[in-house]
Amino acid sequence: MNSTYKVMVVGMGKRGLHHAAAFQANPRFQLAGLCDIDPARLDSAAQKLGNPKTGTDAAALAQEVKPDIFCFCTLPNLRTPLINAGIASGARLIAFEKPVALSSREGMEIKRLLDASGVKAVVSHQHRYGVHYREIKKIAASGALGRIHTVTGTATGWMTHMLSHLIDYARWYAGEPDAQWVMAQAAGRGKFADNHPSPDFIAGIVQFAGGIRGYFEAGAGAPDQPEVAKWWGKNRICVQGTEGFAEVLTNGGWRSISRRDGYQGGDGAMSYDLDMPPYIQEMADWLDDPLKVHACNFGSAYKGMEIMMGLCRSAAEGGQVALPLTAPADELDLLKKAVADRKVLLSSPVNAKEYGV
Ligand SMILES: NC(=O)c1ccc[n+]([C@@H]2O[C@H](COP(=O)([O-])OP(=O)(O)OC[C@H]3O[C@@H](n4cnc5c(N)ncnc54)[C@H](O)[C@@H]3O)[C@@H](O)[C@H]2O)c1
Repeated sequence: MNSTYKVMVVGMGKRGLHHAAAFQANPRFQLAGLCDIDPARLDSAAQKLGNPKTGTDAAALAQEVKPDIFCFCTLPNLRTPLINAGIASGARLIAFEKPVALSSREGMEIKRLLDASGVKAVVSHQHRYGVHYREIKKIAASGALGRIHTVTGTATGWMTHMLSHLIDYARWYAGEPDAQWVMAQAAGRGKFADNHPSPDFIAGIVQFAGGIRGYFEAGAGAPDQPEVAKWWGKNRICVQGTEGFAEVLTNGGWRSISRRDGYQGGDGAMSYDLDMPPYIQEMADWLDDPLKVHACNFGSAYKGMEIMMGLCRSAAEGGQVALPLTAPADELDLLKKAVADRKVLLSSPVNAKEYGV
């Protein structure tokens, strides 16, 4: 197919600029509209991006541009109004940033809106296009690890920044199993005030279908990865089976040992420049052919949202939480009430600066 898809991007911050530049660089897309509430930011972005139509009101601009793809990259507190603006504009695909939402209440409402409209959606868990991330998927899918029984994900960055990434890639490595129940603990109140509101530390267990166990940690108490210099890249996602294991560090390459293939390893570091082009291309592929479902489709991200919010509920209320979630809740409010007013304990001095401890 040679059609060109018209795109509008909302939010000209860090991620909006990444998205807009990637759309502009791909001949399958026409960057037709840019929006931000900050006029100076908007003008500067428009000048760099070929001066498409601009506006400070996303819903109004979307009605004017009538994009095929409505993309928004706003902070996590702004999701549903822009989903509504995208649907009302007649867009066929909505692309937005992780996390899906700050509560299961909003996540469920977004799902309801998308299901009712039939509009496709993707959520930006684009690390998975990294060459080192893909090596682990290749090994796990090859059978070299035997029966996969465990996945783990840790990040020193806090929950609302990092946990949905960890869950997304760990589920991918495990073959995208559904979660059956989760259980967690949380500590530290400092990051509730952040624009990615989170407990300072959350750690939890996920029971996946097929007897696969997941362990996740995000925040101040998560282990340092001394092999990685970049603080935001200190994330380890590991998949283990009866015949071996394989792991990726976001900014520290990959390695694997299995009975069949012995030791293997290689380099790799998360790069927006390398990860965005295939992430963007798959949007055109999915619009061309409904069978070519985008790897970062909303359905998969929604399951990750349920896991993350289930972990929050468990940390707030105690005990195991059954998945899928059936009733909505405001998990961050529950956590704010429940997490004790005690300083978080660090895993390593490398976390001291970010957590003010
Ligand atoms: N996938 C990744 O690897 C990755 C990396 C970093 C951030 N993120 C996510 O991307 C999202 C955005 O983060 P960022 O760092 O780009 O934020 P940012 O603060 O740099 O940019 C947000 C922009 O949205 C604009 N904005 C706010 N309200 C608006 C509105 N109503 N209409 C139009 N524009 C509006 C702001 O003026 C700002 O320019 C967050 O959800 C974050 O978690 C993802």
